[in-house]
Amino acid sequence: MAVLTRTTHDRGSLAGMAQCDPELESRLRQGMAATEDRLRACVAQARHPFTAALADRVVMSGGKRLRPLMVLLGAEFGEPGRAGVVDAAMLVELVHAASLCHDDVMDQAGTRRGAPSINAVHGNRTAVLAGNWLLAKGGAIAAGLERESLLLHTRVTERLVEGQLRELAGPAPDAFHEDALAHYFAVISGKSASLISVSLRIGAVQAAAPDALVRALGTYGEHLGLAFQISDDLLDVTSDSSVSGKEQGKDLAAGVPSLPVLLALADQRPKARKLRELLTSGRPATARQHRRLLSLLRSSDAMTDARAMMHDRLGLARAALADLPAGPARSVLDEICDFVARRDR
Ligand code: FPP
Ligand code: MG
Repeated sequence: MAVLTRTTHDRGSLAGMAQCDPELESRLRQGMAATEDRLRACVAQARHPFTAALADRVVMSGGKRLRPLMVLLGAEFGEPGRAGVVDAAMLVELVHAASLCHDDVMDQAGTRRGAPSINAVHGNRTAVLAGNWLLAKGGAIAAGLERESLLLHTRVTERLVEGQLRELAGPAPDAFHEDALAHYFAVISGKSASLISVSLRIGAVQAAAPDALVRALGTYGEHLGLAFQISDDLLDVTSDSSVSGKEQGKDLAAGVPSLPVLLALADQRPKARKLRELLTSGRPATARQHRRLLSLLRSSDAMTDARAMMHDRLGLARAALADLPAGPARSVLDEICDFVARRDR
């Protein structure tokens, strides 16, 4: 049976991901359902109906709920029934939702999870405030958790902002010789891996798991988060939009320096010349040029190399699992690595 069921507008369902132990599955299902109820209550309790409507739009519009699941799985390495575990699951989803509100402003995104984004409907100022409200609610929840969880919350917020700032700034100027790939990994470590890693750690902390296990879960999460972001980059090039629900090559068309693009730009081999020229000659002006670029990138060595980098990270994530006790929860974490390697949406 699957660990997760689909949420209403979910585009990246983890359904079918893990065949897991029935008792673990039942605990995870209960935990996810409780998290969902608490999230719904949290947004409904906003003092002003407009705030509630905004929060509802971003929090209850679906999504994979990957981070709450990570909290619950982290808690499996301690006492999963302890108070605060579901709060922590709710907290990480609120932080994630807050970051998406702000990210959509920065990206001028018209849609989020298949629906018009808050910034598209109500403007940037409202979207920034909606994100701030969600972050404030997260802060209030974190204040009621273990001190270590509160520190994890503040630190991850800082890392999300730093990752986003580094992306905005681009690689450091020549004098500092920041390599484009090093910059890419610094960015995705901050904006993607940090919250996945903290989700696992905070779940384990709330469940009073031993420190060594909290650390191993954090290491697993950092590598898994990097692999997850690389898989996103790969999907932008390979995905069938009817399956993924995303426009094919959207990041490529927008000039986003994804991992395959960075690797293609650095590839000096003669067979990579045409692709490199197209990538450096500005954004494709016509749909035909876009299709050509997409097709060249899809069959490039850069894609093979990016895929290999994703598998390297998944290997490191799996290696970190060796420091955790064997059992159904560890098996699910292992299966999540397979899921990331195989995902098509
Ligand atoms: C999505 O990246 C962006 C993030 C997951 C992180 C965004 C972080 C901030 C805006 C910093 C502020 C943080 C808080 C907590 C308020 P993407 O644009 O590559 O992905 P997308 O395709 O989902 O938009
Ligand atoms: Mg974005």
